[in-house]
Amino acid sequence: MLKFVLVAALVGAAFSIPARKIDGGLVSSLETKQVANVMVNFVGGNVKVISAIENMKFASRTQRITTLKANLKSQAEISQQNVQNFLKNQKSHFKSFWISNQIFIRGATKQIVEAISSFAEVAEIHEERIIELDSPVAKTSRTPGILAEWGIEKIQAEEAWEIANGTGIVVSNIDTGVRYTHEAVRDNYRSDYGWFDPYSGTDAPNDGNGHGTHTMGTIAGSKDSGVGVAPGATWVACKGCSTSSCTESALTACGEWTVCPTLPDGSAEDCSKAPHLSSNSWGGGRGDLWYESVTEAMIAAGIVPLFSIGNSGPYCGTSNSPGDLRRVIGVGSTNVADEISYFSSVGPAADGRIKPEISAPGEDVRSSVPDSDTSYGTKSGTSMACPHAAGAVALLLSVNPDLTFAQVRQALIDTVDTDLTSQNDVCGGIADNQFPNHHFGFGRINALKLVEAAKASLNK
Ligand SMILES: *[C@@H]1O[C@H](CO)[C@@H](O)[C@H](O)[C@H]1NC(C)=O
Repeated sequence: MLKFVLVAALVGAAFSIPARKIDGGLVSSLETKQVANVMVNFVGGNVKVISAIENMKFASRTQRITTLKANLKSQAEISQQNVQNFLKNQKSHFKSFWISNQIFIRGATKQIVEAISSFAEVAEIHEERIIELDSPVAKTSRTPGILAEWGIEKIQAEEAWEIANGTGIVVSNIDTGVRYTHEAVRDNYRSDYGWFDPYSGTDAPNDGNGHGTHTMGTIAGSKDSGVGVAPGATWVACKGCSTSSCTESALTACGEWTVCPTLPDGSAEDCSKAPHLSSNSWGGGRGDLWYESVTEAMIAAGIVPLFSIGNSGPYCGTSNSPGDLRRVIGVGSTNVADEISYFSSVGPAADGRIKPEISAPGEDVRSSVPDSDTSYGTKSGTSMACPHAAGAVALLLSVNPDLTFAQVRQALIDTVDTDLTSQNDVCGGIADNQFPNHHFGFGRINALKLVEAAKASLNK
């Protein structure tokens, strides 16, 4: 045992030599392309600031977020000062992120990367990740004459509206944007601090892909459209994905905007405008902690992060990041027959935890699409499941907006349906008809049971 510890210590020491700070993928990219877009991580990240905030009491949510933002910003300034000065002298194009204590450099050369790696405060440098949306299958059929979409009925959202419809809650997504003039979503768009586009700085929501209009329709589409879970909520959005892929820097910029929104041009920040939840239908890889600094900041700000678990199923151990993070709500997909969707990623997480936490309707889901203000289309993916769960969280928070992330997670888990269809699959030694399991998680969300339980506990 002692021998093992000594070997581990030596390996640890080897990893702290400066060259090892440069990710292997970046080294080879720089050899082939000469320049690369890179992210620089700093020693300590944002961890100390977040844990300090979590132990403080504040008079209001706005005060809490404003303090969080100010402290993250000063931490980043202290950590990054020398490197920023160096980059300014080199006339590099860079952007500092306070939320995650990182610097993004566009078109960095090998010389720049090597020079930065020699700063003691720099922890790691890697090429910017490109992340994909989680919806593999799209059909543009229209299903006329349907009053409410099947997923809305499955989770008993309409019955839940008798108790709560999302009023007073602001939802958000980090997606491809939203066609905000679409009939399903136009009445509850919050134009005040409602949009940010880190790619092109556009001043009103737009969606050249269709994915984000679809997911927002499911979260907060109107009653008349029949596609939305929380029609009483208002929505805002950030364009983290310009096409079907999303850059790490844009997703990080959207994390910052979500925690403390600005005007579309990036000015006049106002943390009182922060939404209550963030719905994210993108991801990839496994056991990858790269977005955790952002999701932890969201939680410290009182924003619930939800993620699709990925479309890498049906095999065991395919749950994707960031959906597999310890403190996000990871969502798998079910179909109309109450089965887990064939594409839905399956746990366990890399460290053995149950992932996804929950599942929700995600296959053949009809929602708004941006072809016109009255177009609807059907898409499949855990991308479509996550917004159902986000809508349900909006309903829950409209009963009790003071719930913490842990309480929201527990409330979802405590009220799931487990009368689902088994496919006799086993992952991590757990059959898919035993709950919790690695396919459905704790079960499929039920909005009615969720808001009923929340109301009952308020009245206690
Ligand atoms: C939501 O409920 C509130 C009452 O709590 C009501 O005033 C509002 O019109 C409802 N919104 C929708 C979209 O049904």
